[in-house]
Amino acid sequence: MVGVVVADARQDDYPILYVNPAFERLTGYPAAELLGRNCRFLQGEDRDQEARQDIWQALAQGEATTTILRNYRKDGTLFYNELTLSPVFDAAGTLTHYLGFQNDVTAREKALRGEHHARQQLTATLTRVTDGFVSFDRDWNVTYINEAAAGLAQRRPEDFLGRNLLIMFPEIRDNPLGLAVERAKATGDLQNTVSHLPHFEKWVDVTVYPSEDGISLFARDITESHRNLAALQASEERFSKVFQASPVAIFITRRKDKCFLEVNAEFLRQSGYSRQEILGHTSQELGFWADQADREVTWQMLDGELAPGSREVLFLDRHGEPFWGMLSLIPIEVAGERCVIGFVRNVNEEKNARQRLLESEERHRRSATELQRILDLSLDMITTVAPGGWVISVSAACVHILGYTPEELSGRSYEELLHPEDREITHREVAVIREKQGSTSFRNRCIHKDGGVVWIEWNVAAVPDDPLLYCVARDVTRRRAAEADQAFLAAIVQASQNAVVGVSLDDTIRSWNPGARRLYGYSAAEAIGQTMMLIVPPEVQDAEREVFRRVAQGELVLPYESVRLDRQGQRIPVMSTVSGVLDAEGHVIGVSKITRDISLIQAAEAKVRKLNEDLERQLRHVTGLREIDQSIATSADLNVTLGMILENIRQQLEVDAATILLLDQHTLTLRCGAARGLSTALQDLTLRLGDGLAGQVALNRQPLLAADLQTTDVSPAWRAMLEGERLVAYYAVPVIAKGKVLGVIEVLHRQPFEPSSAWLEVFEVLTNQAAIAVDNAELLSELEHSNLELRLAYDETIEGWARALDLRDRETEGHSRRVTETTVELCRMLGFSTEELVDVRRGALLHDIGKMGIPDAILSKPGRLNDEEWLRMKEHASYAVALLSPIRFLRPALTIPQYHHEKWDGSGYPLGLRGEAIPLAARAFAVVDVYDALTSDRPYRKAWPREAATAHLRAGAGTHFDPQVVGAFLRLLGARP
Ligand code: FNR
Repeated sequence: MVGVVVADARQDDYPILYVNPAFERLTGYPAAELLGRNCRFLQGEDRDQEARQDIWQALAQGEATTTILRNYRKDGTLFYNELTLSPVFDAAGTLTHYLGFQNDVTAREKALRGEHHARQQLTATLTRVTDGFVSFDRDWNVTYINEAAAGLAQRRPEDFLGRNLLIMFPEIRDNPLGLAVERAKATGDLQNTVSHLPHFEKWVDVTVYPSEDGISLFARDITESHRNLAALQASEERFSKVFQASPVAIFITRRKDKCFLEVNAEFLRQSGYSRQEILGHTSQELGFWADQADREVTWQMLDGELAPGSREVLFLDRHGEPFWGMLSLIPIEVAGERCVIGFVRNVNEEKNARQRLLESEERHRRSATELQRILDLSLDMITTVAPGGWVISVSAACVHILGYTPEELSGRSYEELLHPEDREITHREVAVIREKQGSTSFRNRCIHKDGGVVWIEWNVAAVPDDPLLYCVARDVTRRRAAEADQAFLAAIVQASQNAVVGVSLDDTIRSWNPGARRLYGYSAAEAIGQTMMLIVPPEVQDAEREVFRRVAQGELVLPYESVRLDRQGQRIPVMSTVSGVLDAEGHVIGVSKITRDISLIQAAEAKVRKLNEDLERQLRHVTGLREIDQSIATSADLNVTLGMILENIRQQLEVDAATILLLDQHTLTLRCGAARGLSTALQDLTLRLGDGLAGQVALNRQPLLAADLQTTDVSPAWRAMLEGERLVAYYAVPVIAKGKVLGVIEVLHRQPFEPSSAWLEVFEVLTNQAAIAVDNAELLSELEHSNLELRLAYDETIEGWARALDLRDRETEGHSRRVTETTVELCRMLGFSTEELVDVRRGALLHDIGKMGIPDAILSKPGRLNDEEWLRMKEHASYAVALLSPIRFLRPALTIPQYHHEKWDGSGYPLGLRGEAIPLAARAFAVVDVYDALTSDRPYRKAWPREAATAHLRAGAGTHFDPQVVGAFLRLLGARP
């Protein structure tokens, strides 16, 4: 689409006679507005154009020419217009018209110009970042490799070209890098991975781009964070090799005296000097500067007085020949000294290069494509931005960083990507760089396609006469997060109530938070730089150093209690936690000490301990009292109770010995009832009321304190006991119940002692217990005594009755007593208990009590009884029940009176009970009674001999008598003389 213009050559100023529609479209003007005008108005204000001279010359000579003009459309937009002028002659050979062919070559022009600047920018970027890239075909044969990538292997690019990477480094096939390449080949997708290159001892962040003809790989050296000292040295060596081999002239200058410390081979080549001539001298001494002003500006930039950047400077070489060099400076530190590393790029050569580039458009285009690919391979996002923020081009890294493809971003304004809060800073930075030119760097936040926030570090360059900005963007989100984490951590430390102190390995305090200031009283300014021992008291310093040593060796030390000194020299009990501070590689580079004042906690703990002890004491007291109460309630044995009371006195009152003396109410003497804590026996010691200390206490009914027994008047026996037991203090109280003195309790000490009111209170309670126990015991013994008397009275009465019955019954003298004794004996043999035997005895004595109800006529009838009389006689068993059952204490004794006439075979009376249904006592009595009757004289017969009587019993065993009882009775008889 070529615009055609016909201008009249015979009129002044070549007015336009005709334009074709393509020209109208090209310029945006309709033909009507063009006809009759000169074409130059398309240049607008932009008149300073070299092309015009070409045109003048052509017009003046009547010749043809082709040239490129900057023209502006009706809407003001710029386009590059490739104009070819061609003269038209009439038949007479007169110049009549000029034909103009106009072609829009904007795209091509921009590409050329853009390429130039981008290449400049890229070169600078690559010099700074030293990222490496390499291209190879699908079989790993290297087609291209840059310095940095070759430098990773400490080689030159030419060492790689055409060679196979897998043959050179077989191990990469199976490491993450090799796997990423295979994945990229298989999927056709970009791959990103981190890989270790053992061959080079490098860690690299790798991006792999597959293409039709092979693989391009971009690698960033991230060994830095993995590097140890040895690796650092290796890298320095490598650096020095790169330094020497670099095609850019490089020098290192000391800031202090501005002397050259090191220069590389290229520097020597460009300057024409030898190393010896340069090192140790300043640039001024050597006369490098064609213009002294350049030198001053350069040092001002370094000193921060002027914005840093690259500058074109005119230098003089050894022979005074001037050459233009692009000078870039970066401040560095070498062996602790502030230095500057400088790069000088010969711009003359670059101009030539550009010239060569311009020679072939085709080659340009190819280079442009290649360049774009190079840009795309960078892990940084490289972009060109037009005024208004329009993205003209962007490298593929934008996918990584912002989530958009280059196609999505091109033609859009970066405005949309900016985080709202960071728009202002971005606009400000852009305005400044547009104004000042050079380069700048700043950070802002952008919005990722997925909505997330990305922190970006921008490096922006502006070039004179070029509206575009050339930008390199790097994602620093992770770095920011790490910084934010650190800031957060620092804030926590600042806010901590605890003292947080950072100490370096040489035991010097490096950080000191407000908590430390509060605890120790030193300000941060006073403490930092001092030794940690500032706040450690001498006696714990060794222990503290030991903890420090262990932590420094990476050991884990549990929190421990210790003591610190504050500024006033006051000791503070603390809980201390010590842990190592690690660097990125995990080496301990210091120690952090977190300490907490625990004086309040310790005080609280002591209070709790005291409360617990009180509580325990009270519990012991209550438990002791309960035990004593129980003992009083259940135990008849006074000794047990008194022993328990004395044991409680000893424990609760913490005395060495305690005794209780009981007062005998009849003899009015005191005798030892129980003692505890003494090795001497006191049983034989008796005291009359009023004698000795205890006698006085009992008599006066008043407590007595002898704080020093040495000076107290006591009996010799007692003195001996006291000395043997080493007792020195004495306290005694009377034991009184119901107004009566029952005894005295004494406590004895091996230390002088003064009773407190609490002590006295407890003593009183225990003494009261003793009084109750003694009183109870006396009551009980009195009760038992009267009980016994009562029983004796009963039993005497019963025996009286028995004798009366014997008389009335005309029984032989003492029959009842005899059978009673024998029955009791027999029953004891049969296993009756003592209590049961009491009832057996009473029952046996009263066995015939029922006969009181039988008339004398029957009872004393000399002859045999008739049937009716027998019936009356047999009723005596029932009479016995009627007589005795109303008397409660005789009820258990009824068995024998009621059943002694029952027979083993059931033929007896009154109930005709059989066998074991008859109570055993009655069965036993029956045997004894019959035997006694047979062996006693009767008015009507002589007493049977013993053998006859026993034979009778044997004969009746199993019918009349229980055979076992008979057996037992015969054994009893056999044992008798
Ligand atoms: C021109 N000229 C021209 N200039 C321009 O900027 N854009 C154009 O498209 C054209 N086209 C054009 C066609 C024809 C046929 C002629 C004869 C000339 C050149 C312009 O008119 C003028 O001659 C040059 O700018 C040089 O003259 P000045 O600038 O010194 O007046």
